[in-house]
Amino acid sequence: MNSLLNQANTILNQANDSDDDHWRPKFHITPPSGLLNDPNGFIQFNGQYHLFFQWHPFACLHGSKYWAHCTSDDLIHWDFKPTALAPDASFDKNGCYSGSAFVLNEQLHLFYTGNLKDEAGERISTQCLAKAVDAKLESYEKLGPVIHCQPQGFTAHFRDPKIWHHDGRWYCVLGAQTEQLTGQVLLYSSDDAQQWHYNGPIAGNGINGLTDFGYMFECPDLFTLNDQDVLIGCPQGIAPKGSDFHNRHNNGYFVGQLDYTAAQYTHGEFYPLDRGFEFYAPQTTLAEDGRRLLSAWLGIPDEDDQPTVEHGWIHALSLVRSLHLVNGKVYQRPVEEHKTLRGEQFDFGPQELNANQELTFSGENCFELSLKATEVEGLLTLRLAEIDEHFVEITFDSATGVFKLDRSHALHQQGSRECILSNRDSLDLQIFFDRSILEIFVNNGEEVFSGRVFPTQLHSNTTVTSSKSCIIKELIRYDY
Ligand code: FRU
Repeated sequence: MNSLLNQANTILNQANDSDDDHWRPKFHITPPSGLLNDPNGFIQFNGQYHLFFQWHPFACLHGSKYWAHCTSDDLIHWDFKPTALAPDASFDKNGCYSGSAFVLNEQLHLFYTGNLKDEAGERISTQCLAKAVDAKLESYEKLGPVIHCQPQGFTAHFRDPKIWHHDGRWYCVLGAQTEQLTGQVLLYSSDDAQQWHYNGPIAGNGINGLTDFGYMFECPDLFTLNDQDVLIGCPQGIAPKGSDFHNRHNNGYFVGQLDYTAAQYTHGEFYPLDRGFEFYAPQTTLAEDGRRLLSAWLGIPDEDDQPTVEHGWIHALSLVRSLHLVNGKVYQRPVEEHKTLRGEQFDFGPQELNANQELTFSGENCFELSLKATEVEGLLTLRLAEIDEHFVEITFDSATGVFKLDRSHALHQQGSRECILSNRDSLDLQIFFDRSILEIFVNNGEEVFSGRVFPTQLHSNTTVTSSKSCIIKELIRYDY
């Protein structure tokens, strides 16, 4: 085994959860040490799920990236495997950047970006293949670049191939930047996944009437949901619009139709996928049972100042979510398998919550909370991770439909994010709190807010109040 892979694997084997790290999530994937970013190569192969991620093993910063490798039988319990890719080839020595996985001739292949800086410091991006060479899918042989440079008119910000098979051919989308410094998504096609043909740009600035759509488009992923072609990804440099796109770097999706022959994608508006603070580079896969599954990085580029660096690690992957198209909108729901993690159950409902009555309970910062409220007339408020004067607040104002996640009373993290819900008189929340992660699924996945929170202790309070009386049909905390 080569030495960079060896070094990374030594770190994997040494990693030991320290007891005093109460921010280390219990059921989310985090890096054993160093920095995690995008999920990569998400695939189910012979029944087993494989999820790789961008990893810098040696420090909590974005250095030359490796591909860490986790596997699972149930999308819940993940095992670390030996590191799949290290930046040890002439064409990827500044990072094995993001990409996807596919199966060709019954062999698992990885399709990733080789990131290289030449002697003058100029970026060179190639799209490279690697394939599994052992039965346990633990070692990968690099096959080298198959797309050698960006098409004319584009800069070397050209990366993140996401591959799929359609009607007997291979296709991939790539994130790209035009020489005018605008972001676009490019479509390529191939008969054998080796020789690739450039079909042209299919989305981004200047296409389908889009203007001011940022300076780079990262991590595109195109897939079918209910006969519609959904394109998700991360346009960098877009301006906030109303309550949308207030993060430093944003995520979202288009719903439309891809004309494979004309290489044209017609689509509607770009909507946020996850409306929280930390969510980026989502990637999907089609499970063997037909579900479209998504994993994402619960972090944002250029935001690496989180307090877990004290413990030598930073960032996490989201829970795996299943995607659904409901009235033209992408809904995300935690996969059903999560229910198997439910431990002791505390049931606080049903009950009528009187105006300004406080319903408080405490416990370890590691639970799932299910709240269903009806006949909501005033302002429904939920405080999470409440310790002394610090907490994260969720509010739902039935008069305006505004749902808000507010971190202005939290330590380390600030600001608020909001949206308007279509339901005004009821609210359904499924919240996952995993030590320093909040994933809040609103109204059965209509909206999702994800973000980090860093409580000072392992235990905290949760409080529900309402400015006018309402019915709490269900309030259950499941300890995890
Ligand atoms: C997105 C990204 C990708 C790139 C990778 C490098 O977070 O910038 O575009 O491939 O991270 O780690």
